[in-house]
Amino acid sequence: MKARPIRCLITAGPTREHLDPVRFLSNPSTGKMGYALAIAAAAIGWKVDLVSGPVALPAPAGVKVHSVVSAAEMLVATKKLFARCDVLLMCAAVSDFRPKKTAAHKVKKNNAALVIEFEPTVDILKTLAKGKKPGQLVVGFAAETRNVETYARRKLKEKNLDFIIANHVGRAGSGFGADRNTVILLGSEGKRAKFGPSSKTKLAHILIEHLQAELKLVPSKK
Ligand code: CTP
Repeated sequence: MKARPIRCLITAGPTREHLDPVRFLSNPSTGKMGYALAIAAAAIGWKVDLVSGPVALPAPAGVKVHSVVSAAEMLVATKKLFARCDVLLMCAAVSDFRPKKTAAHKVKKNNAALVIEFEPTVDILKTLAKGKKPGQLVVGFAAETRNVETYARRKLKEKNLDFIIANHVGRAGSGFGADRNTVILLGSEGKRAKFGPSSKTKLAHILIEHLQAELKLVPSKK
């Protein structure tokens, strides 16, 4: 019997939380790492759904791209796709907060409140991981500016992940927007491996190969 391809759900890029049609809260994520992972996963024959926030990257060949803008939209899109995936790679830099109110029209500067009220967005990864089925691999990313490994381990546990990929953001030459990065892969069962500094393309291939090897260890599903 021919084995079916591994189904992979990847999220990438930032989300935008709009104050009005022309202003939003976001972050500097460019989507490079998520798109590199999607390309690497498709290259080894995985079936890839890529849920992407607003980025300036072309759709990778052979990958189904689902474009979203806000964290709320990303939650809806990923919920639908998560149920049938074998691997979730939550690479998106999801905004943690959104304005309590979004104006339907551009707020005129003379009427603008200078204090804006925010509310938390849903933690998409934590929500999805709660519904994880046996055999599914849930992989998160940790974007940190200090205590990278300590904070990443905390997220691994608190979000019920199988793996977390930790990286240092907010300094030149790594993390958001850079072409190269150094990451630490941490597993719930004690695995620890450091990769890089390497191009995001190379890191993506290494990470996908590692996950492929992990999937071989879990019972195959029909
Ligand atoms: N994440 C998510 N939904 C959110 C926030 C984060 O799914 N609302 C996911 C990210 O995609 C990433 C992981 O959670 O895979 C960790 O994200 P990170 O920004 O490093 O940490 P936070 O959980 O947001 O915590 P903190 O901001 O306190 O570091």
